[in-house]
Amino acid sequence: MKFFVDTGNLKEIQNLVPLGIVDGVTTNPSLLAKESGDVRLLLKQICETVQGPVSAEVVATDAAGMVREGRELAAIDRHIVVKVPFTREGVKACRTLTGEGLRVNVTLVFSATQALIAAKVGATYVSPFVGRLDDIATSGMDLIRQIVEIYENYGFTTEVLVASVRHPMHVVEAARMGADVCTCPAAVIEALFKHPLTDIGLERFLKDWETAQASRVTG
Ligand code: E4P
Repeated sequence: MKFFVDTGNLKEIQNLVPLGIVDGVTTNPSLLAKESGDVRLLLKQICETVQGPVSAEVVATDAAGMVREGRELAAIDRHIVVKVPFTREGVKACRTLTGEGLRVNVTLVFSATQALIAAKVGATYVSPFVGRLDDIATSGMDLIRQIVEIYENYGFTTEVLVASVRHPMHVVEAARMGADVCTCPAAVIEALFKHPLTDIGLERFLKDWETAQASRVTG
């Protein structure tokens, strides 16, 4: 399973990339609104840092506007994936952009029927939002299971990109279900590393080693 970082913050990405586990980045208008400076330049810097797919979202709401913005975003860097919302207009724009050979991430997906439609218009990625479904007492991960099953049934190549990830169990369940990608906030990626027994074990190894070295010197 690929790990994307769900952020528009360059420093967070620069901090995670050296770990060697970051395959891409997803942004959205809310995330980019938190950052200062020129958005195109920021997206370019993110692409150069991650050297993998970077989703950048259109803000137009009509298909023609989405297509125009999508082409402009894709011209920033070869790593840009155009993100369009799942609406009737977004579906039309997805069809046009993929027809031109651009990669498209269909976002704000909350049902299996939406995911099926996104695959039929050639989306490169579909982004079901698991955390926002959990927020309204509906299982986000059940939706992932359904989409993975449907895509397998028909051999769709659209990748299932688990979005709105809130904690490590979303990541574990996504991996068990065979989702293609999990996009996580930096804090969730950091949490994937943590285990108290690792910390306690390392502390003991180092202490035992230090004690043995000291007794060799004194003995
Ligand atoms: C994914 O592409 C979205 O940007 C993101 O995961 C939304 O997450 P949120 O529900 O935490 O805002």
